[in-house]
Amino acid sequence: MDKLLIEGGTPLAGEIAISGAKNAALPILCASLLSSEPLHLTNVPRLKDISTMLRLLEQMGVAVEDLGADGLVLNSRGLNNPLAPYDMVKTMRASILVLGPLLARHGEARVSLPGGCAIGARPVEQHIKGLQAMGAEVFVEHGYIQARARGKGGLTGARIVTDMVTVTGTENLMMAAVLAKGETIIENAAREPEVVDLANCLVSMGAQIAGAGTARIRIQGVERLHGARHAIMADRIETGTYLCAAAATGGNIRLTNTAAANLDAVIDKLFDSGCELLIERTAITLQAPPRLKAVSIRTSPYPAFPTDMQAQFMAVNCVAEGSAVIRETIFENRFMHAVELIRLGADIKIDASNAMVTGVDHLDGATVMATDLRASASLVIAGLVAQGETVIERIYHLDRGYERIEEKLGQLGARVKRIR
Ligand code: EPU
Repeated sequence: MDKLLIEGGTPLAGEIAISGAKNAALPILCASLLSSEPLHLTNVPRLKDISTMLRLLEQMGVAVEDLGADGLVLNSRGLNNPLAPYDMVKTMRASILVLGPLLARHGEARVSLPGGCAIGARPVEQHIKGLQAMGAEVFVEHGYIQARARGKGGLTGARIVTDMVTVTGTENLMMAAVLAKGETIIENAAREPEVVDLANCLVSMGAQIAGAGTARIRIQGVERLHGARHAIMADRIETGTYLCAAAATGGNIRLTNTAAANLDAVIDKLFDSGCELLIERTAITLQAPPRLKAVSIRTSPYPAFPTDMQAQFMAVNCVAEGSAVIRETIFENRFMHAVELIRLGADIKIDASNAMVTGVDHLDGATVMATDLRASASLVIAGLVAQGETVIERIYHLDRGYERIEEKLGQLGARVKRIR
């Protein structure tokens, strides 16, 4: 298994371009299942999760053409096997995103039930409840979700109120609804920018969707969708991760090909910690202060502070002046990075969903273990700050969500090496 070796202590400096968003690209790849015409996607990040999703789609009969720098073309004219097997779903929960589109276009789907994962139980009953409201017959058998559109006419529009805000739940239901008969209203919908990016792609394929980005999305079903070309939005979490790395190391960086508008909550907290930020339309520059101030955060659905930035901000607080409370409200087990940060010398006390972080003068390099994607990112940040050498084990988690991370960090002057 690959490891990452970091020689800490160098402030990040320089400029890098941000990649396309993993969590927008994953549902949009699944949207290709909704039409028999080609979907041409650009700005697709080259990540492990993306290649896993492409493999999953290919074994269903989707043709994938890789145009290199000009992106990917997906064609699901030959869709013949509406199955997401356990082996794939267990490595990537986002595989559940094939359920809605398969049901809408193919009339049936068999998708392995995702198990729990390193950050929490993560059930999918809201996805199922919404599809049932649209007239699907759904039952779970031998660990698989078996779903069928009842009758000849396929799915029918419905008013769906989800019990909680769910990102992939909203995306799955939106994709099911675009080909359903009549109108679907999703109440309590996720407002994440990735939901909006998916809606924009679907609209360019001929879907009728209003209200994406608000808590109420209205979808008027259409007979069929056509081919389209769509550029994936910039990754707001990758952007936030590099901003936190620059803040923690006392650095000065400029990130291009990104959109600050999707990152308000994170940018506000970086301001509060004493960073200076210059916001342009597609770029962000951050200058860290001589010593950061500790800043409390509470994770919540968009537009509030994202759970996907909680671990990275914890690493920032580890070397700030003062104490801060980090409250995780989305996932019940998302503090696995804290024990590893403590191994680097951080002062963190966990009490259920609250972490009290008291800043220390410095961290010391050590060997630590990555447990999930964002936890790994927080260990990279801590390793960049720590004195001496930090070895991060199990970095396959990082490769799921950060494109060419050691190369990008290297461009910013960090001393990072992958050991195979
Ligand atoms: N939930 C349920 N039942 C459901 C659906 C969700 O109880 O049927 C709960 C979850 O267990 C969780 C909360 O609702 O406590 C919110 O989960 P959500 O469904 O929004 O999460 P998700 O759609 O599975 C996406 C991202 C995650 C990100 C979360 C929250 C993708 C592919 N994944 O997951 O990204 O943390 O939204 O913003 O979009 C990551 O990129 O590292 C990552 C984990």
